Amino acid sequence: MTVQRRTRGAARPEQRRSGAGAAVAGLLLLAGITLLGSAACEIGRMPEETRLATKGSRPADVSPLFQPLPETAEHPEDNPGTPERIDLGHKLFFEPKLSRSGIISCNTCHVVGAAGVDARQVAIGEGARTGPRNSPTVYNAAFLTAQFWDGRAPTLEEQAKGPIQAHVEMDLTPEEAVERLREVGYEPLFAAAFPGEEDPLTFDNIARAIAAFERTLITPGSPFDRYLGGDEAALTPKQKEGLRIFQDAGCISCHNGVMLGGQGYAAFSHVEGSSDIGRAAVTGRDEDRYVFRIAPLRNVALTAPYFHDGSAATLHEAVSIMGWVQLKRRFTQEEVDALVAFLESLTGEFPVVTHPQLPRTPPSARGASD
Ligand code: HEC
Ligand code: HEC
Repeated sequence: MTVQRRTRGAARPEQRRSGAGAAVAGLLLLAGITLLGSAACEIGRMPEETRLATKGSRPADVSPLFQPLPETAEHPEDNPGTPERIDLGHKLFFEPKLSRSGIISCNTCHVVGAAGVDARQVAIGEGARTGPRNSPTVYNAAFLTAQFWDGRAPTLEEQAKGPIQAHVEMDLTPEEAVERLREVGYEPLFAAAFPGEEDPLTFDNIARAIAAFERTLITPGSPFDRYLGGDEAALTPKQKEGLRIFQDAGCISCHNGVMLGGQGYAAFSHVEGSSDIGRAAVTGRDEDRYVFRIAPLRNVALTAPYFHDGSAATLHEAVSIMGWVQLKRRFTQEEVDALVAFLESLTGEFPVVTHPQLPRTPPSARGASD
């Protein structure tokens, strides 16, 4: 599957290749990084107010390649974020009926009260089966141009269909998922979330509702965002030093934009020889062997362990490896400390997400309602 743009990123096309967007594209090309079709659109997607608010007041030492995290994510035209749809998606995200055993929900691996991750090296799903990959956070995934470590799903809607069916995750067929939700009484909720549809409880609509909910999982207001907005005191001196190294050493050539990553691909030779060949499994191209999506770094201090295989236990370790593997730099302990301090400034403010009440029609009442 190739990664394509879609409506979500299509806002204000006139901004896409202008200003910092073009600079990002140019720098990425210099660094030999594979671009997505929409590589520069993170910037294009930024709301007008944010652009204006930061203009002029941004501290001089910070590159225009960084952009603040917007307060909200835009919902695409074909999946509007109505309150009913978001509310339904919220329930579905916590719904263990969507797994074969009835005990695993999206929240099992993406714990929304714990930065959207499970803190395991690789995820554990149905039948205690493990996949090859670490669970990334669901927070701010709305701003990614491609989902998964290898970017194989273009949108949150596409992404959400994956885990429900995956043998190592929730392990249901689309028909089983729909049937289970019907059984426990979801029909009226789907009718309200998808008004006017003749048969609203479908697998596609399950994914749509979950995606609409995920677009509310945004963490603005990190110290780095406040710094970008002109609050010079938002970063400690050590964090400013880390920011300087991040820019001067070249981390920024890959990790930039709103998410400091998530919008292009690069080779990760550190894992050569592993059976997980990354992008090549998606594109079928030999040159994509061990190429992975440039990891987004928002809230990265809270999402250990690191890398697609969870092989780096700490942020210090991940940063040292990045320095050596991507930049051929052996950082000193102080440099690594400063870089980690800077990455800690990317931790935003998390929304309070309640554990919802899930519909549960008692078995005795099921016959009557059908
Ligand atoms: C068994 C654990 C598990 C369950 C259950 C699970 N996920 Fe995931 N999720 C993962 C793993 C592992 C990945 C990375 C897989 C990959 O890149 O190949 C992932 C990737 C994602 C991503 C992509 C984020 C990014 O940075 O690319 C999103 C979004 C996501 N999951 C949402 C969901 C939703 C919604 C559900 C419920 C329908 C769900 N997940 C259920 C483990 C899980
Ligand atoms: C050539 C592009 C490139 C450069 C330069 C680069 N990175 Fe990365 N970075 C990546 C890719 C690709 C990944 C994802 C690797 C994987 O699949 O596990 C990544 C992953 C990371 C992660 C792990 C994130 C997570 O959630 O697991 C951290 C932290 C990180 N990079 C920090 C840095 C720092 C700090 C620098 C500068 C010293 C840097 N990177 C330089 C491409 C790059």
